[in-house]
Amino acid sequence: MDRVTLPLVVVTSELPGDALTLLGGRARVKTFKSRGGPRTEGEVLRCLGRATGAVTLLTDPITETVLEACPNLRVVSNCAVGVDNIDLRACARRGITVTNTPGVLTEATADLTWALILAAARRVVEGDRLMRAGRFKGWLPTSLLGMDLRGKTLGVLGMGRIGQAVARRAPAFGMRVAYADPRRLTESVESALGATRLPLAELVARVHVLSLHCPLNQETRHLMDGQRLSAMRPGSILINTGRGPLVDEAALVESLRSGHLAAAGLDVYEREPLMAPGLRDLPNAVLLPHIGSASRETREEMARMAVANCLAVLEGRTPSNPVGPPVP
Ligand code: GLV
Repeated sequence: MDRVTLPLVVVTSELPGDALTLLGGRARVKTFKSRGGPRTEGEVLRCLGRATGAVTLLTDPITETVLEACPNLRVVSNCAVGVDNIDLRACARRGITVTNTPGVLTEATADLTWALILAAARRVVEGDRLMRAGRFKGWLPTSLLGMDLRGKTLGVLGMGRIGQAVARRAPAFGMRVAYADPRRLTESVESALGATRLPLAELVARVHVLSLHCPLNQETRHLMDGQRLSAMRPGSILINTGRGPLVDEAALVESLRSGHLAAAGLDVYEREPLMAPGLRDLPNAVLLPHIGSASRETREEMARMAVANCLAVLEGRTPSNPVGPPVP
């Protein structure tokens, strides 16, 4: 194809690995330097400009205003499984295809979820800080006592791919699994996971560790509000590797400060990259910088998948991972 007639693909940030080689000779490519923070709507629309295809990050707001300013856009290929940064209805209205990267990051995210569960239950980060501060004075029977996972119940809120991968690891730590999800798993999957479905209120009240794995949308924003946090079992642990706004972060700070919750393990925040006031001062919060999928292999695969999806749409093929608009 003649170079000028090749579609223009804008990649809003540098990607790991060799994903962009897929576009060689098939598209013109403009890659923006990683900004080191989320872009505003205005910055995103200036990046995309006359692009026909966009490979975007989960931090890029793809709103009506952005779409309005990018008349040539035919595909938004998010390099993430979550698509809460994209106005899906506005894309559908304009005939713009949206794609994501499901599946490839499931195991990495489940592993990191367990890293947080173990770190929160056994006070790993507090111990590390104590050592670095030179405050370890020798073994004591009473110091840094955490919670055994063995014999306890893990609650999985949102039993999709990642929730199931988290549940699959639970027997290795002697934990039972309960879950809440609008859709029931098939009996055979439930029994393979040893998972019992409970109504949301019961799940929240019963389990010792509650891990969030539902997508962020209008129904799930602040699903864990002050009331639900108070309804959690005293001394239990909240883990969030899904999306920050699933939790009312200010209310979480209060639950951790009062000791109602023993600990929390967070990889995501309500207003990333910011944290609610007081969160960083709490010793019982384990805080990671949104690295659920951050293994080299996984991130390279996500990038390849995002670029392949984008190219498929531009070449008139069906992409492997289309995302439909939300059902009303
Ligand atoms: C990461 O948070 C993702 O949605 O892929």
